[in-house]
Amino acid sequence: MKTTASYLRVIGFAILAFFLLELTIDSGEQWAIVKHPIIWAVLGMLILFAIALEIVASALQRILFGGLNPEAQERYIAAEKAREENRFGWFKRKYKEMLGAKPMEKEQEIVLDHNYDGIRELDNSLPPWWVYMFYATIIFAAVYLVRYEIFDGRDQTEEYEIEVAQAKIEMEEYKKNNKDLIDANTVELLTDAGDIEAGKSIFVANCVACHKDSGGGGIGPNLTDDYWILGGGIKNIFHTVSEGGRAGKGMIAWKTDLKPSEMAQVASYVMTLHGTNPLDGKEPEGDVWVDENAPVDNVEVKVIDSTKIEIKMTDEPVIDDLQAEGK
Ligand code: HEC
Repeated sequence: MKTTASYLRVIGFAILAFFLLELTIDSGEQWAIVKHPIIWAVLGMLILFAIALEIVASALQRILFGGLNPEAQERYIAAEKAREENRFGWFKRKYKEMLGAKPMEKEQEIVLDHNYDGIRELDNSLPPWWVYMFYATIIFAAVYLVRYEIFDGRDQTEEYEIEVAQAKIEMEEYKKNNKDLIDANTVELLTDAGDIEAGKSIFVANCVACHKDSGGGGIGPNLTDDYWILGGGIKNIFHTVSEGGRAGKGMIAWKTDLKPSEMAQVASYVMTLHGTNPLDGKEPEGDVWVDENAPVDNVEVKVIDSTKIEIKMTDEPVIDDLQAEGK
């Protein structure tokens, strides 16, 4: 009888069921329906159930209608029609009320005197929707004034800084929970004692056969001096460990055996061996490696204005000494 309404009810019910399921099932960041495909089945069952209910209800209605005498049937139809017309009545009434316009037939009451070539003006009062919004802005202004001018609420800079600080905390948290998301470009030197200890165990278990306990070198090169064949620094060392040395030299790619977090630990441990000068150390191989990104402490930078800076060396840079030695 009223098929559109039944369709709408079933669709509304399906949407409601979907959101309720999403809300009540904990699925982390993912949609519950993606994480647990069984929800499709549950949702399907619920929709079938709703359709069945609609069918039963309309069948029942038809039977009851058939049982009425013709006069009652007519009354029923008239009542239905009235109900149909009055649907959304509340909204329609509110809408008219908010416009606050005089009905056409009463316009005579508010028409103004002047008459320009037959064009006349109505003196409508301000529409309520506009007036209420105006009051709202006044209240907003008062609250704003008190909060930000009298009680010193946060300004944009503070809000920005708080958000950045929060994001930093979240980033640290994320890094802590996703230690294996690093690669040679993003790896950073680990300084935590636990990480170094873990790096040492990995080194002892996998690397000492060729690099010796001390890192002084055997089949593999000395890892304690300033000289590197494949580059020093955490990123290069991580890369060498992960991808291996030059073909045929004997240093394999460890990425199949070690997790990224473990490679970062062992690479950080290797960094701690620098400068230990073991007695059994092999002679240097490769070139002196200088970290181009290392912070320089013998340079003074003075900002003069937004377009000019002045750079002054306070003494001879360390880098030059090292390069003179090495090459
Ligand atoms: C089978 C012997 C062998 C093992 C085991 C081995 N290495 Fe090596 N390693 C070498 C050789 C040989 C080289 C030189 C590679 C080249 O010349 O390309 C090297 C190079 C390196 C370098 C680069 C040195 C430089 O001067 O650039 C690092 C860092 C390194 N190894 C770390 C490790 C770590 C960490 C492990 C353990 C996870 C390990 N190696 C296990 C043989 C080995």
